[in-house]
Amino acid sequence: MLADMSVDTVTEATSPATGPLTPIHTADTAPGWWRSAVIYQVYPRSFRDLNGDGVGDLAGITEELPQLAELGVDAVWLSPFYRSPQRDAGYDVSDYCDVDPIFGTLGDFDVMMAESHRLGLRVIVDLVPNHCSDQHAAFQAALAAPAGSPERDMFIFRDGAGEGGHEPPNNWQSHFGGPAWTRVAGPDGQPDQWYLHLFDSSQPDFNWDNPAVHAEFERVLRFWLDRGVSGFRVDVAHALVKAPGLPAWGGRADGSSTDGFPGHEAPMFGQPALHDIYRRWREVLDEYGPDRILCAEANVDPLPRLANWVRPDQMHQAFNFPYLHAGLDIHRLRTVVTDSLMALDAVGAPSTWVLSNHDVVRHASRFGYNGHGPRDGDGIGPFDPQPDVSLGRHRAAAASLFMLGLPGAAYLYQGEELGLPDGTDIPEHLRQDPTFARTGGERLGRDGCRVPLPWRAAEPHLGFGAGESPWLPFPASFAELARDLQAGSPSSHLSLYREILRQRRALDLGRGSLAWAENWCTSSSLAYVNGTTLVLMNLNHDPLELPAGQVLLRSASPDDARYLASGETAWIRLESGAPTD
Ligand code: BGC
Repeated sequence: MLADMSVDTVTEATSPATGPLTPIHTADTAPGWWRSAVIYQVYPRSFRDLNGDGVGDLAGITEELPQLAELGVDAVWLSPFYRSPQRDAGYDVSDYCDVDPIFGTLGDFDVMMAESHRLGLRVIVDLVPNHCSDQHAAFQAALAAPAGSPERDMFIFRDGAGEGGHEPPNNWQSHFGGPAWTRVAGPDGQPDQWYLHLFDSSQPDFNWDNPAVHAEFERVLRFWLDRGVSGFRVDVAHALVKAPGLPAWGGRADGSSTDGFPGHEAPMFGQPALHDIYRRWREVLDEYGPDRILCAEANVDPLPRLANWVRPDQMHQAFNFPYLHAGLDIHRLRTVVTDSLMALDAVGAPSTWVLSNHDVVRHASRFGYNGHGPRDGDGIGPFDPQPDVSLGRHRAAAASLFMLGLPGAAYLYQGEELGLPDGTDIPEHLRQDPTFARTGGERLGRDGCRVPLPWRAAEPHLGFGAGESPWLPFPASFAELARDLQAGSPSSHLSLYREILRQRRALDLGRGSLAWAENWCTSSSLAYVNGTTLVLMNLNHDPLELPAGQVLLRSASPDDARYLASGETAWIRLESGAPTD
């Protein structure tokens, strides 16, 4: 399959190791575990099903945590497991301080925390402050109360436009498709006001102009901090505050535009008042000591603007979506790495790097296309052009090896260490992403990247759970990608990830420096030096002759050890230490 880690190849090439260097970033010495951490995203529905209902659960996570410790990650981030009708896979929360019965109980959560800490793993949980579920007690109270009441003021209710208020209050569109407003019946049963939901109609947006909403979320933060979590990934952190007057805007609620408006001008995004919210949350976290963190899921462009979110008195980290979106475009990658490090260094924050998560097509599938693949969040269906899975996995290994050599923190999405592709043949009746229903099937949504994990090839349901069928079906390829098969093979994707994380830690690359190695930066290859390690990625059609130095790792087994083939990355120990020219 992939890299053969059993031999360290010493090349005999004579090419100069790096040539001129363009330094971008010096080593980060500030304290803070998160600054260089590898954080593994667990998607609880799809991780491991111990109670046999076909959906993953907290006990299943506890059961398999040793595998994550063994992989070598520093922390896990759990997507929502709170009480929820599951209309948006748990991002529709009806009680922020309880566990949904499909995932277990608060007791199961405490057991999972204890086991994580025993294994030396930190746990970050997901906070969903932009919206809740329409089944949340506060929203039910708002529905039962009249217009203008304090109950309605927890949310964004407005009278409709046009005669009889039959039209939505403005033209905003839901991220999942269709209007971002839904009309309710008043307590007397007559058509009444409309409420705003940037996502599904079952996810009413909170009104962050109301201090009672602030107080409620401080309570939620403390509830989980008291239970020992190391921090929060903050869902759609850029959307909580809306521009005064809710001005009309022609784009989609994800910031993409249908009529030429750049995303950052969207009146539902990036409003200045957000910063005070996160300053306050930072104070709350700091009361618990310096080790608790906030990571923003903030779709904010450009990078210097995103850096405002991670100034020392606000969040600790923000996801680097420009990096994810750069794909394997050499020019964009170089630009985004440079801009990220420079913009974040300027405010004293570490950069983060990410290639996959539960909202995008997995990178092993995205990279299986030559030319355009699917749009983020739209998924791949059985009638779409299919990715070349083995090419995709080959390139995914190269991209991961490139990413994990970068200084800063990295986020991994469960299953990427197995090289899993998306499920592309999910029958329509099993699709659960609200995007599918809200667009009449035009956009398939994100189910493909959420297919459960294959743990043990010979067990029922590939070891995901011994009971009912998994909530989404496995693609045929998952059997040979099962974790137990890969664990026993030194040349597997899993073994490569383990070795990458081991060496990353040993070389302290997350705390390292970065300089572009200009001799190797061409239109189809990219290389940087971090400390004494040269990281070289070749996306050319032709093999590259490797420079002198010890090959520490390579993303694929070589046909000829002197060369780096197309779609491969290598880490090379420079013979003369960190060069200065
Ligand atoms: C989450 C999605 C979710 C949405 C609404 C996102 O950014 O990552 O999975 O559907 O927020 O909560």
